[in-house]
Amino acid sequence: MIETKPKKQAERALLIGLEQNGVSKWDLRDSMEELRELASSAGAEVVDTVTQKLPKPTAPFYIGKGKAEAIRDSVQSQRVTSVIFNDELSPAQGRNLENLLSRKVLDRTQLILDIFAQRARSREGRLQIELAQLQYLLPRLTRMWHHLSRQTGGIGTRGPGETQLEVDRRRVQERIARLERELEGVRKVRSVQRQGRKRHQWPVAAVVGYTNAGKSTLLNLMTGADVLAVDKLFATLDPTTRSFTLPNKQRVLLTDTVGFLRNLPHTLIESFKATLEEVSEADLLIHVVDLSHPRVDEQMIAVDSVIKELNAFGKQTLIVFNKIDLLENPDLASTYCRRFPGSVAISAKTGHGIDEFVDALQSALSAWRLRSHFRVPLSESNFIAEIHRVGHVLELRYENEYAVITAHVPPHLEQKLTGFIAR
Ligand code: GTP
Repeated sequence: MIETKPKKQAERALLIGLEQNGVSKWDLRDSMEELRELASSAGAEVVDTVTQKLPKPTAPFYIGKGKAEAIRDSVQSQRVTSVIFNDELSPAQGRNLENLLSRKVLDRTQLILDIFAQRARSREGRLQIELAQLQYLLPRLTRMWHHLSRQTGGIGTRGPGETQLEVDRRRVQERIARLERELEGVRKVRSVQRQGRKRHQWPVAAVVGYTNAGKSTLLNLMTGADVLAVDKLFATLDPTTRSFTLPNKQRVLLTDTVGFLRNLPHTLIESFKATLEEVSEADLLIHVVDLSHPRVDEQMIAVDSVIKELNAFGKQTLIVFNKIDLLENPDLASTYCRRFPGSVAISAKTGHGIDEFVDALQSALSAWRLRSHFRVPLSESNFIAEIHRVGHVLELRYENEYAVITAHVPPHLEQKLTGFIAR
């Protein structure tokens, strides 16, 4: 595992990618660039990048044997401490490469898992990432068993003829089962919290987007929430929900989510399902896009495909083109806004365009509000309290034994109080 250490001890990483049939040079360059960003996010210093053109990966080494041997030499001369592959390696490839190179060998999935492990802050985030790591580790134990804690001891931990590997495998399986149980508990708590929010009937908007798009920065700007916003991929791993009051006094809950990525390892999506449930449960998605990124279209498509995987595709979505302060061609913002009607262009850093964003959010949520007039007997104090709690009271006066209220309320409340509507 790569650790963030003081600079002088940073891992020295060599990145390796394959130009396979069906993968264009451009795509490879792009995903290698992303791998470089991932490695830096994990705290490594990238010393070199090597690519090879092959029809498909080789079974023993992923790359060709000759290439692997050449890399062994450059690893020594460049004092490389870890070699990172831009793909998921099979357990055998990982083992062979580690033996040949005598260096730590990581693949893309492991690197992403590692970054997630560094960033996870909540108990839930940590449980989820540990689960994903163990699921990745299980089929690779022969290579990695020495990384595990091996303080067995005690009766019954090591049966006759049982190898250390089997003990470790069993221990990992037990741990996976325990984590799954714990996560189930967390999921229940989260669902109770969601019910609580539903009771308040505030709409929930989930902020989604490619990693580093500026989701946390936007959320901080809006709500003063102290979500970590640093220029590292996946700074946010735990959804943070904050409430924001729109100019029309309507309240909305904004939930930050983990950054998406092309080819997000499936184990991760699975493990983060509980967190990402926030996306499928949200009333509105705010899709933050880094418009200054050279591959903005691909990033938008990647986000859509994760949303599809979460069964949230087709939800009402407000697209926010961010980082317009970095655009070399300022016309790009209007071009994209025309292409995606209803979208807005902002800079979450400078605050430019934020008013337009808030207006767009308000109108996206307008269906949540009706201007209604009620005449409620004072004896029905519960209903009067509910209008205050859920709606926004514009006018209140008392007539004999009645409260006469004009308020903005969500449709379901108006329906509930139909009997009290003043015509
Ligand atoms: P993940 O946690 O990886 O999903 O990232 P995120 O989408 O939450 O991005 P975050 O808000 O952490 O921002 C990433 C980087 O972009 C930070 O360095 C921000 O300061 C920077 N950033 C965000 N918005 C803007 C912007 O409008 N302009 C500029 N110049 N930088 C921005």
